[in-house]
Amino acid sequence: MDFSMENVTVFTHPLIQHKISILRDKRTGTNEFRALIEEIAMLMGFEALRDLPLQDVEVETPIETCMTPMIAGKKMAVVPILRAGLGMVNGILALVPSAKVGHIGLYRDEVTHEPHEYYCKLPSPIEQRTIVVTDPMLATGGSAAAAVDFIKQHGGRNIKFMAIIAAPEGLKRLREAHPDIQIYIGHLDRQLNDNAYICPGLGDAGDRIFGTK
Ligand code: PRP
Ligand code: URA
Repeated sequence: MDFSMENVTVFTHPLIQHKISILRDKRTGTNEFRALIEEIAMLMGFEALRDLPLQDVEVETPIETCMTPMIAGKKMAVVPILRAGLGMVNGILALVPSAKVGHIGLYRDEVTHEPHEYYCKLPSPIEQRTIVVTDPMLATGGSAAAAVDFIKQHGGRNIKFMAIIAAPEGLKRLREAHPDIQIYIGHLDRQLNDNAYICPGLGDAGDRIFGTK
């Protein structure tokens, strides 16, 4: 059973927990790290997308014609927060290959830890879509809250935010800033340290996905 508070799902599935533990290990190299981020995103996405709307369509099987459900309407957009959120995109696209992909570029100031925007390009129109925002790390919550702000400014309404590891501080900030969105967390960690890194966390997700630093 996953543990949930209003609008928040924290996963307890053993496969997700096992894979997150391998991510945390500092000996896990870039190739494996990247593959695990994608796999975890897919496992989380399976649950996060359980409310996608369906409509019955006519299909001819080798036996007879029937009405059978398929995903309805304007479907989905995946919006990674650059850079690290990119690592989760293919996991979601494996589930919904027809989803459009937007990008929001944000980096955290090393001193203030506040986010700065450097890029924003979203699919248009976005109003009717289910929007899945991806970022492996929800630390202070500044980047996630800013990304959801941008999406709302562009008309996005049905927003889900997915992070693999969250700090309680970031989860609180995101929920307070955007009480109307659904939040999915792979594991809720203990706290932030003085540099606003998640403890125990996994270090710098972007650097570990892309092999930088
Ligand atoms: C990391 C991470 C989040 C953000 C989380 O990105 O991927 O986007 O920090 O921190 P916050 O919750 O305190 O805002 P970073 O700014 O390091 O950029 P990168 O993905 O390009 O490495
Ligand atoms: N960003 C990361 O990549 N890791 C953290 O622990 C905090 C922010």
